Amino acid sequence: MSQGSTPEEHAPYGTGPAAAGAGGSAPVRKVRTHHLREMKERGEKFTMLTAYEQYAAQTFDEAGIDVLLVGDSASNNVFGNETSLPVTVDELIPLTRAVSRSTRRALVVGDLPFGSYQASPEQAYLTAARFMKEGGAHCVKLEGGVEMVPQIERLTRGGIPVMAHIGFTPQSEHALGGYRVQGRGETSARVLADAEAVQDAGAFAVVMEMVPGDVAGEVTRKLAIPTIGIGAGNETDGQVLVWQDAFGLRTGRMARFVKQYADLHGVLLEAARAYADDVRGGTFPGPEHTF
Ligand code: KIV
Repeated sequence: MSQGSTPEEHAPYGTGPAAAGAGGSAPVRKVRTHHLREMKERGEKFTMLTAYEQYAAQTFDEAGIDVLLVGDSASNNVFGNETSLPVTVDELIPLTRAVSRSTRRALVVGDLPFGSYQASPEQAYLTAARFMKEGGAHCVKLEGGVEMVPQIERLTRGGIPVMAHIGFTPQSEHALGGYRVQGRGETSARVLADAEAVQDAGAFAVVMEMVPGDVAGEVTRKLAIPTIGIGAGNETDGQVLVWQDAFGLRTGRMARFVKQYADLHGVLLEAARAYADDVRGGTFPGPEHTF
C-alpha cells in the first residue's frame, strides 16, 4: 500500500492511547475500507487476523496485518464456549474497545453476534452503532447473503461500513447441518448470488468461508469489492485466520484450511513449567529480583 497521505488522513491520528505506539514511533497511515478496494484493483493481496485483546492486537498491527477482526469466534477462543452462538454484544464490545485502542494502523472490524441483527434492519443498526460508539470499531461484519440485503442497506445508509460473510456461516451451523463446505456443484450459483447481493446492497468487502477454491476465484473476479477467504483457496483478494489456530495457541483438531505458523501452546507450556520448577526449587525469586 502506498505510504503517501493526505492532510485529512493525518488529522484524526494521534488522539488515542495507541497513537504513541510502543516507543512513541511516528504516525502511520490508517487502513481504510477504500484502501482494500484499491489493493484489489492493483492486484495486491491483503491480510486479516482475528484479535480479541491488547497485546495480540498491538503485535499484529506492528506486523502490518491490514485488518483485525474482533470475531464472534471470541465465544470459543476467549469465553470457553463450544460454538460462536452464545457470545453476546455486551461481551464483545469490551474486547472490541481493547483492540481498537491498541491498534495504530489496522482496520478494526466488530463482528455482530448471533441474534443481534437478524431480526430487523433497525435491530442491526442499533447493535452496529454500539460497536462503533462503545467499541471504537471502524466497521462491522455480519453473516448472510441475499437475506441480509435490508440490514446491509440500512447500515450503509446510516454511515456504518459493512463487511459481509457468506458461504459457511458459523452462526447458522445448526441450520446448515454442521461445518460443511458450501457452494459445491449446483449450489455454487447460490454463493455467487449472495456475493452479488451483498455488493449491490453496499457491503465494502465479503468474507467467504469454506467455499471451493474455483468458486471463490470466480466470485472474486466477478465482484468489484474485495473478497476475503477462509478455507476458500488462494484466489481471493485477502485471507483471514483465527489467530489461536494459526499460531498454535489452540491445540487439537484443526480445519484443513488452517496453516500453523507457530506452537504458542508449546512455548507457554514450557515457560509455565520452568516457572513452577523455579518456585518449587527455591531458585525464583533470586537476589536480582529481590529489593
Ligand atoms: O468470528 C470469526 O472469527 C470469523 C472468521 C472466521 C472470519 O468470522
